[in-house]
Amino acid sequence: MPERFALAAAAARKPQFYSLLGRELQALVSGETDWLANLANAAALLYDQLPGLNWAGFYLYKGDELVLGPFQGRPACVRIRPGRGVCGTAFSRRETVVVPDVHHFPGHIACDPASRSEIVVPLIVGGSGDEPAVAAGEQGKEGRDTWVAGVLDLDSPEPGRFDEADARGLEELVRVLIPHVDWRQATALACGDASSS
Ligand code: SME
Repeated sequence: MPERFALAAAAARKPQFYSLLGRELQALVSGETDWLANLANAAALLYDQLPGLNWAGFYLYKGDELVLGPFQGRPACVRIRPGRGVCGTAFSRRETVVVPDVHHFPGHIACDPASRSEIVVPLIVGGSGDEPAVAAGEQGKEGRDTWVAGVLDLDSPEPGRFDEADARGLEELVRVLIPHVDWRQATALACGDASSS
């Protein structure tokens, strides 16, 4: 099969794949109230099930910056300012950012030089911190009470690994996850954090 047809066939299967993954995620986090356990299992599920990743995890908004959360993959940079890198850009814009080639994204933060493409999905939660807030493509319709608790970040060593089908599928997974995490706790500053005084 010519490569472009193989790619098109794979993309066509992505919605079904993400739908199945959503059910697996739901089963993993339902009935568990510990935010750290649920974020850790979500990162592990994505890293384990999505082909071609070298990193999957969360950055959580604490104080005035994004701080490394549960993840799978190599050790990564710990703190990212809003607006910086792909993570900070998705956070500030409150929208999913797909980067086919990180070498062409100004300000990309290279935690692992092997990474070639990246996708970052903002975690937009309701004012009470326990309800899903954003439907795909509806970022402009958020209520005033929504806030961004952080981002989900996936990296790949393959250029062009992520497309619009991944963006919609991952946004759906984030919507599954959001009601199962206490985002106020997850974004609380650690005791002794320099910026907490
Ligand atoms: N590349 C990201 C930084 C996080 S790591 O990829 C895990 C960025 O530019 O924001």
